Amino acid sequence: MSGIMDMVHLDTGLVDCAAYSPEVYVEELDRVFGRTWIFVGHVAQVPRPGDFVTGWIGETPVALVHGGDGAIRGFVNRCATSQRPFLAYDAGHLDRLTCPAHRRGYDTLGRRLGSEPADDAACLTPVPRLSVYGGLVFGSLAGSGETLEEHLGEARWYLDNYVLREDIGGLQLLPGVQRYRMPGNWKLLAENFAGDDYHVAITHASVLSLRAQQVEPRIINSPGRQATDPIFSVATGYRHGVPHGLLEVRVGDDFYNHDLMRAQTISPRAVDWVNTRKDAVDRRLAHLPAKPYSFHVGNLFPTFSIIGNGTSLEAVGLLVWHPRGPNETAVTQLGFVDAGAPLELQEQMAFALSHQQAAAGVFAPDDHENFERLAKSVQTAVARTVPFNYEMGLADEGRDVRPPEWQDPAWPGLVLPRFTELIQRDFYRYWMTLMTTGAGNGA
Ligand SMILES: [Fe+2]
Repeated sequence: MSGIMDMVHLDTGLVDCAAYSPEVYVEELDRVFGRTWIFVGHVAQVPRPGDFVTGWIGETPVALVHGGDGAIRGFVNRCATSQRPFLAYDAGHLDRLTCPAHRRGYDTLGRRLGSEPADDAACLTPVPRLSVYGGLVFGSLAGSGETLEEHLGEARWYLDNYVLREDIGGLQLLPGVQRYRMPGNWKLLAENFAGDDYHVAITHASVLSLRAQQVEPRIINSPGRQATDPIFSVATGYRHGVPHGLLEVRVGDDFYNHDLMRAQTISPRAVDWVNTRKDAVDRRLAHLPAKPYSFHVGNLFPTFSIIGNGTSLEAVGLLVWHPRGPNETAVTQLGFVDAGAPLELQEQMAFALSHQQAAAGVFAPDDHENFERLAKSVQTAVARTVPFNYEMGLADEGRDVRPPEWQDPAWPGLVLPRFTELIQRDFYRYWMTLMTTGAGNGA
């Protein structure tokens, strides 16, 4: 698309407001959402034949269906003949899929009931590619292109070790899906999770001070609790791949000790769990001179965000930012706890997640307020003359801040200071590449 090259200036970190315009939005539905891998659900949402869950790839409605043959398929949620969505609900269980408009029926493999098996036109349209990584299901509207594993790249290491943790039981899906709207362009919400750790202490100051004063004063103010261990941001795919950002990557024993102190207030089994998780990381990464204990938040390009796994006592929230116009975004949010954690801890984890970064939590509404103001601002004539500024850390562009004795290729990614906008710059570098090269992979 012509003009995009003038919107993103990697040398200065400036991004023109036109990147959030209605014209660009229409193009990126094809060039970004028609080409990349989008998270569409978790296998645990459809455990039995006949189970389904609906979602979107960009603005295209899709459905994950567990077929009568045991396979999980992705379909475009559109009746083969009437074009209307054939599944009108977020999730459910059906032996046959029936279009609510004219009651045309399909089996759970997507075949039109009552039609000849070879009659392709009567079948539901499959999502061209569906791929599963550790239970996470991603779909792509492009029939060819890089595989999901190539797309995830080195971010897989962070998923394996800090989110999925399949060797100690893996993730257990919490019931219910949150769906809510956020004002703001999808890119701004995605990069908020990908690279903006410096908004947290400011935007969420009231919550953090409340926590320090009332919820955990004994722990936070205890002797020796002054956290001194380093906290990093990490970019994977930097410059040459798909850009993913992982924030609050923590090295050292501060957070482990903090977890232990909190766990002691819960139960002996919670203490055991903290040690089990720590031992698992230490065992997996035994060869590394410095082992990250956790990371807290991140975004995998373009719109798949992760939050809450920063300590052994937090649930994992997985969020998808669905584009809904240049200034609006829909959110699908799933919650998970560690399957191996004791029940009393799982309950606390689930409670805390729903009260923090969630539709009715105390963090998401802070962000909502920020983005509501921003969404209004970018639509003004004045805003269109002032670019967004992502220059933080530009002087150290590309420099890995690990001390030499910590450097090890088995700890992948570019390790950055906690506060930098390198990840945002790289986000827009890749976005610009998608927007200006090729015509998509057949989407
Ligand atoms: Fe936030």
